[in-house]
Amino acid sequence: MTACIVGWAHTPFGKLADETVESLVVRVTNAALADAGIAAKDVDEIVLGHFNAGFAAQDFTASLVLQASPDLRFKRATRVENACATGSAAVHQGLNAIAARSARIVLVVGVEQMTTTSAADIGRNLLKASYVRDEADIDGGFAGIFGQIASLYFQRWGDQSDALAKIAAKNHKNGVGNPYAQLRKDFGYDFCRSESDKNPRVAGPLKRTDCSPVSDGAAALVLADIETALTLDKAIVFRAAAHVQDFLPMARRDVLKFEGCALAWQRALAQAGVALKDLSFAEVHDCFTIAELIEYEAMGLVPQGQGARAIDEGLVAKDGALPINPSGGLKAKGHPIGATGVSMHALAAMQLSGRAGDMQIKNARLGGIFNMGGTAVANYVSILERLR
Ligand code: COA
Repeated sequence: MTACIVGWAHTPFGKLADETVESLVVRVTNAALADAGIAAKDVDEIVLGHFNAGFAAQDFTASLVLQASPDLRFKRATRVENACATGSAAVHQGLNAIAARSARIVLVVGVEQMTTTSAADIGRNLLKASYVRDEADIDGGFAGIFGQIASLYFQRWGDQSDALAKIAAKNHKNGVGNPYAQLRKDFGYDFCRSESDKNPRVAGPLKRTDCSPVSDGAAALVLADIETALTLDKAIVFRAAAHVQDFLPMARRDVLKFEGCALAWQRALAQAGVALKDLSFAEVHDCFTIAELIEYEAMGLVPQGQGARAIDEGLVAKDGALPINPSGGLKAKGHPIGATGVSMHALAAMQLSGRAGDMQIKNARLGGIFNMGGTAVANYVSILERLR
């Protein structure tokens, strides 16, 4: 590959009532440039990941990044969107600019502010990432869609309530070590397994602890070509970047297979010339616990229908064969849509540079990322390695 992550920034995720989309973008832009040791005037291209879909009155947000510095004025800046994978779409767009040699340094920003919107509108906005014609009438917003997927999985492969609660408990436990996470609480298996006033049913078999929270937040990366990266302090290289886009209607696919996810992993691993077992950890898209369970199968960790084995046998624990979501994932961290993919890359870069603090995986050498938009419609896998 041709590009590295050379700097990053991450706001805490959560209810950030004193922030706006603009203030979040400005904060992470300046912090990421400072972290990389890059002056604003040296940025060649800017890519902003921002889903929006009604969350903010301000659309057309690419130029908000320029509010961070007058030296960003007149740079190429574009907003990209690919549902919950918007952040990774921005990252991969930045990689394309570097691969095409139209840029040496790219600033990638991901942002979302969701918590200022009413619950009913949050559900409506998120359902714009479904196939609206057939799928947007479902109750419960996107949780309703994944609730249906969970029910279908239970019908085909048996009740997985224990496994889903174990996934939630694992991610919440990991999230305690993440200073950027919205929910830094070790809820424990029993709490996640039981329906209660504090853990009500949300949709189908999914309870509150099976869902990622609604969040505000931003993250940013500075990408550079290899030659430039080697002159800087930090250089986390992309060994692979794969993007697979599937049909939008769930009716056109076997939605329990996440075939786009599987293909993206296969392509990325082949591109990197490594096997899944070579990865030190992976950050994957646990918007709902059922998604993480199916992803264990799609990435090839366990055969189809046996996702529960990955969590039961401890494979995905922080000290397991392939730690999954050592950051706590979307489940603990929160899921500000446009920021999530950028956040995953920033957290993986922290791991690989040994700067992950209490989240740190020992001897982290190769990291995988899977970020998904919709019901495995937009599928992005990146494989990262420390260069310096
Ligand atoms: N997991 C665990 N705890 C959660 C939580 C979650 N997802 N969401 C909120 N909480 C906690 C809050 O911290 C709060 O705790 P406290 O009483 O100790 O302060 C409590 O639950 C109530 O918070 P509230 O915001 O009123 O919860 P809610 O019931 O309105 O919302 C969900 C919960 C699950 C419905 C909401 O988080 C949701 O819609 N998530 C899915 C978002 C989504 O679809 N994203 C796109 C994915 S593709």
